[in-house]
Amino acid sequence: AAAAEDVTPQLRHDVTSIGVVGTGTMASGIVQVFAQAGYDVTYVGRSQDKLDGVIAYITKNLDRAVAKGKLDEDGKASVLDRLTGSTEREALGGVDVVVEAIAEDLEIKRELFRDLDRIAKPGAILATTTSSLSIADLAAQTGRPGDVVGIHFFNPAPVMKLVEIVSADTTSPEVAETAKALSLNVGKHPVSCGDRAGFIVNALLFPYLNDAIRLHENGGGSLEEIDTAIKENAKLPMGPFELLDVVGNDVSLAIQQTLVGAFGHDGWAPAPTLEKLVADGQLGRKTKAGFHTY
Ligand code: 3HC
Repeated sequence: AAAAEDVTPQLRHDVTSIGVVGTGTMASGIVQVFAQAGYDVTYVGRSQDKLDGVIAYITKNLDRAVAKGKLDEDGKASVLDRLTGSTEREALGGVDVVVEAIAEDLEIKRELFRDLDRIAKPGAILATTTSSLSIADLAAQTGRPGDVVGIHFFNPAPVMKLVEIVSADTTSPEVAETAKALSLNVGKHPVSCGDRAGFIVNALLFPYLNDAIRLHENGGGSLEEIDTAIKENAKLPMGPFELLDVVGNDVSLAIQQTLVGAFGHDGWAPAPTLEKLVADGQLGRKTKAGFHTY
């Protein structure tokens, strides 16, 4: 058996302030996670409307916690007080850790990392919550590849405990360890993984989700029957179509395309129904329609 190692990761960097780039479901959830754990969070989006959407998402979640008696009004106010929104990336110049949660598109993320390299203070950790893209590629856009790491949150970020801490060959061990310690500080359960398309969870999960769509397309069962069969058999909280609607069909399509590009197995091409739903703007819960309607 492997020798027992010291399993308590340490913060190797001072971390008091967090920056989040993005205003979608993941970004909003990640802002909430850090603010609820007591960190000051600066979040950056492309418009005031999108920034307002982050506050609306978090307020709704905090209101639900208040209604359940898990949080009081003072607690809610102090979480919201820790938030600073900005439409200018320059607002991230002073933060200790930036977590990027923008579109799952390599060119868009590359441009952001080049900009973060210009803006972030020396020694800041530059983290991405990409679901499947290469950490090494994003790190190579910067003059500080050692400071770039993956912190992959799961959806919904305020609820799901798991985070994957993804190290590229270039990631400094201290940065990876700090990312792990920080995840523990915000109540998450980090696992370390290599910089391989899909990391651990999505590399295993998405072939199954794509197969579920093909099974349905080929007459294997209705959406409800397949969802029910999996929930009852595997004791999972959601069936494949319910989960696809939570993740977002646009995100799922991008992940499946990355996996095909990286591993190219026969039969892995995105299922036609997934492509059609994305083309029709039926992205899942966030648009109130996907495989199911909401
Ligand atoms: N945001 C914040 N909190 C939420 C929430 C949301 N969107 N949805 C539910 N919650 C909270 C509730 O407030 C409740 O909190 P409490 O325990 O403190 O009262 C708790 O979660 C349970 O909620 P409910 O009782 O209303 O609902 P369920 O028991 O049905 O749980 C669920 C909802 C947690 C979403 C559950 O169905 C689940 O775990 N589903 C699977 C999710 C999953 O597997 N996600 C991973 C997808 S893969 C991924 O993200 C990778 C990416 O790269 C694509």
